[in-house]
Formats: sequence, structure tokens, C-alpha cells
Amino acid sequence: RFTPRVFSGIQPSGGLTLGNYLGAMKRFVEMQNADDGFECVYCMVDLHAITVWQDPAALTRNTRELCAGFIAAGIDPERSILFNQSQVPEHTQLAWIFNCVARMGWMKRMTQFKDKAGKNAENASLGLFGYPALMAADILVYHATHVPVGEDQKQHLELTRDIAAKFNHDYGTNFFPLTEPVIEGAATRVMSLRDGSKKMSKSDPSDMARINMTDDPDAIAQKIRKARTDPEPLPDNEAALEERPEARNLVNIFAALSDRSVAEVLADVGGKQFSEFKPMLADLAVEQLSPISSEMARLMEQPDEIDAILARGAERAREIAAPILRDTYRIVGM
Ligand code: ADP
Ligand code: NA
Repeated sequence: RFTPRVFSGIQPSGGLTLGNYLGAMKRFVEMQNADDGFECVYCMVDLHAITVWQDPAALTRNTRELCAGFIAAGIDPERSILFNQSQVPEHTQLAWIFNCVARMGWMKRMTQFKDKAGKNAENASLGLFGYPALMAADILVYHATHVPVGEDQKQHLELTRDIAAKFNHDYGTNFFPLTEPVIEGAATRVMSLRDGSKKMSKSDPSDMARINMTDDPDAIAQKIRKARTDPEPLPDNEAALEERPEARNLVNIFAALSDRSVAEVLADVGGKQFSEFKPMLADLAVEQLSPISSEMARLMEQPDEIDAILARGAERAREIAAPILRDTYRIVGM
């Protein structure tokens, strides 16, 4: 009944990491280029970014840089709809309806809020608490059927389905789809290079813990060389990586960068020491990432062109979102 449609977003909250690239952006490009007829809608979610403080000038710059990153990674703004969230007001309009559908108890269970708010949750913004309802609106204002994301977003996708189901139930309709998360591939959760128990993140205070999409080849090589590992050589089978999170992470990254499975990679590199494997990984990362970062830098020299692409994307996004919001209001009696 629903048109197969992909929606996903990334926050313009600072530099893109290898985690964002492998867990999200590279997958977005695959879904755009797949032959199975998905219409793809990709969004820079600036309204999510400001749930924690963003310097205004930096936010503007990061939004453009993220757009450049999408295009450099292979998103074609003609084939996909590429835009900035705050330019499509239907997101926040639907989010208000969902604020009235979602229950306090559901929101309180969200682990990302607990992680991001930290010890002083009373001082977190109301927006940070309500974030998952806006995310549900981002997705459902397009009636998106599939959402490619990293593993950290799984709980928010479940909440999106809960909100859709409760809306449908309360208003006696089948208006909103129960969206499927698409969490696939070797790199659904890229970990910090300094601590195998933490997610690689733009907000990690240590720059050595992550690879940024804008890092130069020397920085990439240095970060991989210094990445924490254990002293054992690499095993030849996946099961033997279970208790070795740092080794597992580097192998996952290698597999995702080379479009191979972990088993295939281990068949090749099993038995090697990290002193041999790390330079292989660094070469592969540089080979894959440097064309993207140089294209990003080139695009960033034409900010007007980026703004024009985003304005056009927002118009196309509104063509889908406006009628869905109108129908939602009608169902609610407004
Ligand atoms: P961040 O978590 O870096 O602040 P976002 O919240 O904007 O970034 O997430 C954008 C996308 O990138 C989401 O789909 C998220 O699941 C994915 N993502 C972020 N970090 C990682 C990671 N370390 N490994 C895999 N995917 C990730
Ligand atoms: Na995230």
C-alpha cells in the first residue's frame, strides 16, 4: 500500500566520522543506487543538532559541510531528495501531533537521552528529551517504509513504530506505515579507536578516538597505528573475535571499507600481527576516504551552489510532506 521510500538523516553537529560514513552514508548511497525502486529522502537534521548547544556560525558551516559530504560520498541530489530539516516546517508540525501521541513513559526509556543528558538530566533541554518524537515525524511525514541507520538508532526506530501504531489505533486508521529499520553490513556500530566499549562519535573529547571524513592521509594512518589492540595475532574465524572488541572493530572497518564480509576478510588476514594489518587498513581507509574528503573541500568552495541544492531539495521534500501533513490534520479533526 505504501510507496517504497527510504528516509534517513544525519546531524550537522560537527565533523562527519568514519562511523557516520560506514554506518549511515555509505548505506544511503547503496540504497539510492539499488535497482529495487526506492525513492530516497536524505536530510540534514539541524533541528536535532540544536537539542544541544550549537554555535550559530558553526551550525551554518556544518550544515553545508554535511551536504558536501553527502554529495562527495555519492548521493546524487537529482536522484535522491537532499535537504535541510528546518527548511521543511512539516517536520515540526507533525512532531507536535506526535508529542501528543507518545507517552512520557516511552520517552523516559530512551537510552540515548540518558547517555546524552548524562548526570545532570534536569538541565538537559526539553528538545533533547523530545528528540525521538521529532525523529518519528521526520520519517513518517514521508510515509517512509525503510530507514537505514546505525545500531544506536534501533530504539528510536522502535519508538517510531510505536507512535505510528498508537496514532493508527487511536484514530481508527492505517494512515502511517510501520517503518522497517535497515541495520545491515559489517559496520552498524563502529567503535572508538581508543576504547572498544564506546561508539565512535563526533562528540568524543579525544580526536584520536575517531577518524573524521576530513582527516588527511597522515592523520588517518597515525590514528590507525595508535588504535588500541591486544597483543594476539588476528584469528581466522569470526567466533574467535568475540572477546576481542578492539580487534573486532578494526576487522569490521576493514570489511565495510572493502565491501566484504568479516569471514572473507579473516580468511585473508587471519594469522597476521597488527603491525602488518594496521598499515593495510590505513592504506585502504586513505584510498577510500581521500577522494571523498577532497571532493568535500572542492564543494565547500561553492557555498551558494550548496545552498541552491538544499533549497531545491526542500521544495521537493515539501511536495511529499505537505499533503501527508494535511491528511494528518484532517484525521485529527483540524
Ligand atoms: P552522531 O551519533 O555521530 O552524533 P548522528 O546522530 O547524526 O551522528 O547519526 C547519523 C547516523 O550515523 C545514524 O544513522 C547513526 O546510527 C550513524 N552512526 C553514528 N555513529 C555511528 C557509529 N559509530 N557506527 C555506526 N553508525 C553510526
Ligand atoms: Na547518533
